[in-house]
Amino acid sequence: MSMLALPAELVLLISQETQAQDRLALRATNRKLCVLVTPHAFRTVYTTSTGKSSAGFYSLLRCDDVRKHVREIVYRDSFAGDVGSGREDCRKDGLTDGPRDEVSDSSREDDGRGCLDEVEEGVIANLSAAFSLLHTLPALHTLTFAFHPIYKTHNTPISSFNRKRYPHVDIQLAIFAALESTSVARLRSLTLDHSTPFSHEISTHPTFLKYFRKLTHLHIATSSDLHFIFAGPLADFWARSLPPLLRAPASTLTSLTLHSEHDVGAIPGLTLGHLRYPHLTHLSLQHIVFDAGISTEAFILAHARTLTSLTLSRCKIAIPHPAPPTARRWADVCPRLAAKLVRLVHLAVDFEVGLDPDTFEHKRFPYALVQPGWGYSSVGIEEWVTEDDAALEVFQGAVAARMASVAES
Ligand SMILES: *[C@@H]1O[C@H](CO)[C@@H](O)[C@H](O)[C@H]1NC(C)=O
Repeated sequence: MSMLALPAELVLLISQETQAQDRLALRATNRKLCVLVTPHAFRTVYTTSTGKSSAGFYSLLRCDDVRKHVREIVYRDSFAGDVGSGREDCRKDGLTDGPRDEVSDSSREDDGRGCLDEVEEGVIANLSAAFSLLHTLPALHTLTFAFHPIYKTHNTPISSFNRKRYPHVDIQLAIFAALESTSVARLRSLTLDHSTPFSHEISTHPTFLKYFRKLTHLHIATSSDLHFIFAGPLADFWARSLPPLLRAPASTLTSLTLHSEHDVGAIPGLTLGHLRYPHLTHLSLQHIVFDAGISTEAFILAHARTLTSLTLSRCKIAIPHPAPPTARRWADVCPRLAAKLVRLVHLAVDFEVGLDPDTFEHKRFPYALVQPGWGYSSVGIEEWVTEDDAALEVFQGAVAARMASVAES
């Protein structure tokens, strides 16, 4: 099929990269110009979970004259919020402006009907059919998914999810199944945002691993409201599904983002200690606990010779319960990182802030009390705040000074 056979509206809906006036020009243009515009217009193809967008996406990927130009595919659930920005409220941030305006326009019809609403007819079938065609896109190197942020999940295996109530889970599963059935020769960058952390055959299947082997950029951010981290699907995901995926791109990875919504560490059995990426320059961790079992600190330090950028968001140091005065704290970790990470020029550290259950005042929770057989509970320890802050400031100062000297030279 040729792109010229498609209705212009469909073509334009999927090619969001071009500016509005370009798209209008394309719409009005003749065949010759259309052919000229194609390579640029379809470098990045956007799609979302609406009937119109998914059907257009499938049609587009069947166009012979478009396929060879597609380098990047961005699937963004109509309620997903901004890709890569972590947890969003699906109602508040579901519709954003920016280059995807036309996709958002079509999703606007869904606004107000709620996050867990029905998926329009044809969406799953079209996405599934389209993603099964990835092997026909020779230039594709980047896949970006921002799934539906699911806040209400069951602490039960995926097979017993209430499909009627959580139809968006089906989209994710259908896309994973489609990915399994196809392949991408040169996938370099993979983003799985709002990935539901369930353990299922697909993510541990060897054919799914193929997408991870040559990645330079990997971004995994989970989304769920499960709070029981020590057992169940959430634990399986972190302890069993994820480790083989993280090991796969060992020789190529330069950038790793691993964001959780809950404190994960030795509980439920995640370990980073054995992972080595000789070319890793960017590392971003969220809610990944520093404790001996997971070896977060050792993992970071093992990449001291290459790391230039480090983000620690809401990461905590695990301390036994009750906390002994000798427990390792940020005032110990920061100087060590500062001394060893000699190439770091970008550092971002933020701590979780929440309500103190005793005083009802906002305070920081930089520590995680280990509760065997349960998980972690967040704590802030007043007596440590001053020293911790001072150590972090010294670390930040050292990185900023290096940044300044790099910028000068
Ligand atoms: C794609 O969606 C359209 C419109 O909803 C539907 O008619 C068509 O059957 C779907 N395509 C596939 C392959 O399911």
